[in-house]
Amino acid sequence: MSRPALAIRLFVSLCGIASTTASAEDPVKGPAEIARLEYEQVMALTPDLENGRKVYLTCAVCHRPEGWGAPDGAYPQIAGQLRPVIIKQLADIRARNRDNPLMYPFSVPRILGGAQNVADVAAYVAQLPMTPENGVGPGDDLALGEEVYREHCAKCHGENGEGNEAEHIPAIAGQHYLYLMRQFDAIRTGRRKNSDPKMVKQIDGFTPRHQAAVLDYTARLRPPEGKLAETGWTNPDFPSYVRDPMGVPPVPPMPAGLMDASPSPEPPAYPSVPPAR
Ligand code: HEC
Ligand code: HEC
Repeated sequence: MSRPALAIRLFVSLCGIASTTASAEDPVKGPAEIARLEYEQVMALTPDLENGRKVYLTCAVCHRPEGWGAPDGAYPQIAGQLRPVIIKQLADIRARNRDNPLMYPFSVPRILGGAQNVADVAAYVAQLPMTPENGVGPGDDLALGEEVYREHCAKCHGENGEGNEAEHIPAIAGQHYLYLMRQFDAIRTGRRKNSDPKMVKQIDGFTPRHQAAVLDYTARLRPPEGKLAETGWTNPDFPSYVRDPMGVPPVPPMPAGLMDASPSPEPPAYPSVPPAR
């Protein structure tokens, strides 16, 4: 065998050995597996609400001090979400098992901290009361929405959209309509990597009308008694936080008298068209 051929053989066999030993001793974990391990680690910890409040300051910039997000759906409401769901989403986002380019930099251990901080902030967010004024849809197809919900969603997300702690299925009642629409699209098209394959199958073939109707119905489902805040509630844990207006600004009332002002004068009549010859 020529020298170069021998060298190539030696190189190839060495690589082969190197890669088999590496995978036997240190199996490369994918994002889903890394997130699953962190989820289990965090779930076993006892949360500290006081530390959770401190950690939450980072989150408040986007999710607001109340955790209500924005009615235009750019930021989801996270207040009142089930604790295991918050933990699973945080673990998924920072393991890149759910793409969230905006939030990702704030979720990494250097900023958010380790498992204990995740446990603490999740418990803090879960106990925040929810907004009574979340974003909803047009409201013109709710009978169809209810029918679709009962048939396709209730068995997993609960009769009233309350979710399921043990299976970490999200509560979806009272979430902003436009955020629900975005997530539903991401799940349907496979863009949301951590989506539930059984749900993907369940919603396969939905028309845009079915989707809009069921999500409008979902956004209007009321969370359980005691989970809703009073209108205008502000989180007393952040008394000096400056709350810039966010989302769809309320339409200002029409100035008094504008609509009953005297009608504009009659426009001048067009000159009559001369008869054709
Ligand atoms: C820079 C803005 C930003 C910051 C800071 C931020 N988030 Fe988010 N978060 C988002 C956005 C945007 C989404 C929705 C992304 C999407 O549409 O998939 C999101 C989604 C989430 C979700 C998933 C909600 C759901 O219903 O599935 C959770 C839970 C969450 N954030 C918790 C937190 C916590 C806890 C913190 C603080 C440690 C935090 N976020 C900080 C922007 C932010
Ligand atoms: C087989 C069970 C199952 C069915 C049926 C199902 N879902 Fe889901 N859904 C899930 C699970 C599990 C998740 C969370 C996946 C994850 O991120 O871990 C989810 C996530 C979602 C989300 C994203 C929530 C968030 O906070 O980001 C929405 C919105 C949603 N489902 C709406 C629906 C609607 C509407 C229906 C009925 C048309 C439905 N689902 C049917 C199991 C199901």
